[in-house]
Amino acid sequence: MIKACIFDLDGVIVDTAKYHYMAWKKLADQLNIPFNEKDNERLKGVSRMKSLEIILDLGNLNLSLEEKEELAQKKNNWYVEYISKMDKSELLPGVEKFIKILKSKGIKIAIASASKNTKLILERLNFEDVFDAVIDGTMISNAKPNPEIFLTASNYLSLKPEECVVFEDAVAGIQAAKRAGMKVIGVGEEEVLKGADKVIKNFENINLTLIESI
Ligand code: BG6
Ligand code: MG
Repeated sequence: MIKACIFDLDGVIVDTAKYHYMAWKKLADQLNIPFNEKDNERLKGVSRMKSLEIILDLGNLNLSLEEKEELAQKKNNWYVEYISKMDKSELLPGVEKFIKILKSKGIKIAIASASKNTKLILERLNFEDVFDAVIDGTMISNAKPNPEIFLTASNYLSLKPEECVVFEDAVAGIQAAKRAGMKVIGVGEEEVLKGADKVIKNFENINLTLIESI
């Protein structure tokens, strides 16, 4: 029986994936590195530094740790500028209603996001006190596809992995949830999110029967 839903944040609860892309694209352009939306799929769910390394690889650029930290900071400054203007209108369709249904049924809800900007995003959405657990990039040592973030969330909720369903928009996140021994629902395109137990476009038509059936 499902006792908790664990949500990735970027691209699942809120449409921040586009802001990550805009900021990385701006950096890639400045470095003259070809970078498009298809390349961007590989950045979803992975840490800020790992994302930068993927982009630098695309341009065959080898930089020192100091230079990389400077570039990651530059990208984050742009990204924070974009998300600081965000509000509830950028929640993914159906999210708020679905959260209400889960709460009314006593199903626990958690966030498991690699982002170190999680707190800021939840503040922008007025969602600071909505979740039973919030595990973010500042609290873990191993990034997705390592299962650490999801296992930390289930531990926090005192639940077994098999009692949790994960919602993810990233391939790395789906792998991490599977490795944690959890069911996983992909949010996005079926061709991209292979490996998920089910894929939905957004939360508009989701219900508890669908979750229990996977
Ligand atoms: C994930 C995003 O949620 O967080 C990645 O999918 C991002 O694209 C990662 O790189 C880290 O985010 P931040 O906000 O700490 O740079
Ligand atoms: Mg995501």
